[in-house]
Amino acid sequence: MEAKQLSDQVRVEFLNAIESASDLAALEKLRISVLGKKGRLSELMRALGSLEPKQRQAAGMVFNLLKTELTEAITARRVALDSEQLLADLSEQGMDVTAPARPEQAGTVHPVSQVLDELTEIFADMGFVVAEGPDIETEFNNFTALNIPPEHPARQMHDTFYFREKKDGARPVLRTHTSPVQIRTMTSESPPHRIIIPGRTYRHDYDITHTPMFHQLEGLVIDRDIHMGHLKGCLIDFARLFFEVEDLPLRFRPSYFPFTEPSAEVDIGCSIKDGVRHIGAGEEWMEILGCGMVNPRVLQNCGLDPSEWQGFAFGVGIDRIAMLKYGIRDLRGFFDCDLRWLKNYGFSALDLPTLGQGLSR
Ligand code: DAH
Repeated sequence: MEAKQLSDQVRVEFLNAIESASDLAALEKLRISVLGKKGRLSELMRALGSLEPKQRQAAGMVFNLLKTELTEAITARRVALDSEQLLADLSEQGMDVTAPARPEQAGTVHPVSQVLDELTEIFADMGFVVAEGPDIETEFNNFTALNIPPEHPARQMHDTFYFREKKDGARPVLRTHTSPVQIRTMTSESPPHRIIIPGRTYRHDYDITHTPMFHQLEGLVIDRDIHMGHLKGCLIDFARLFFEVEDLPLRFRPSYFPFTEPSAEVDIGCSIKDGVRHIGAGEEWMEILGCGMVNPRVLQNCGLDPSEWQGFAFGVGIDRIAMLKYGIRDLRGFFDCDLRWLKNYGFSALDLPTLGQGLSR
């Protein structure tokens, strides 16, 4: 018989069989019976040896084409059977939605994140927006523009981490407070401003209430006709909402900061019973933040005319008020990355803060 006829015969027989193979095992059997060493096609190819070279070449081409065709058909059928099998397995096993969940370790929200969320919510309700700046600052932004000139003792007070001096004499610093972002904002955008600035700050300090890295939240309001009454109203509202004590007493105690004039520190009322601090009316005071009216010199350093623009600023230690509100005694645990500590002091991710006044205001 001619090679072409033989090939057609095998093609018809096997293509049909492949198409109707009902499972992977049957398909594999078919593959072996036609393409395997002792398979039909292999036998035909072996028989080519006895032909004349010319005939052999022509027949070889015919059988090779058939081999490719059959191989492709088998692969296609295998893919189809595989996905049929997968669908069958899935529908057979189904999914048991009543099966108990595997006990996953639930993560918790770090007190710094929690308090930051609370602060953001309170100030957002008062119309503040968040501004940010880099941890590595220029001496100009961190000190000079804030009216802390090179010989000023406050430069020593801050226990600054300095970087090595650059070729042009500049000495970058790890910012010692979030106040430099006041400068960045006032020099890059035009007033009015109503911003809060949360972020990391750095000082060379380490004990039960100090760590070399800590967090502050700065506030800045610049507008026409802003006065001390606005400052007091804003901070009284903030403290009462944050500590969740409606009649929380506040004391504005005169103080000094180079970048504000006048300056004050704010204390809240509290009492201590059996060694435990309670926030609210009592015989003790506890300092929570520094504030003041922005010093006209700072406004001038940023190119603003103090007869046109005034404002107030404040700076609060986020970790410090987190310790106060949630009764955490040692700051160092905040940054030890100990999961046991987080389990104890962390917050559920589902408890969103609800300290703001929302739309009812
Ligand atoms: N920058 C001050 C500090 O780190 C805190 C501060 C005090 C910020 C008064 C202010 C302010 O904006 O008005 O100690």
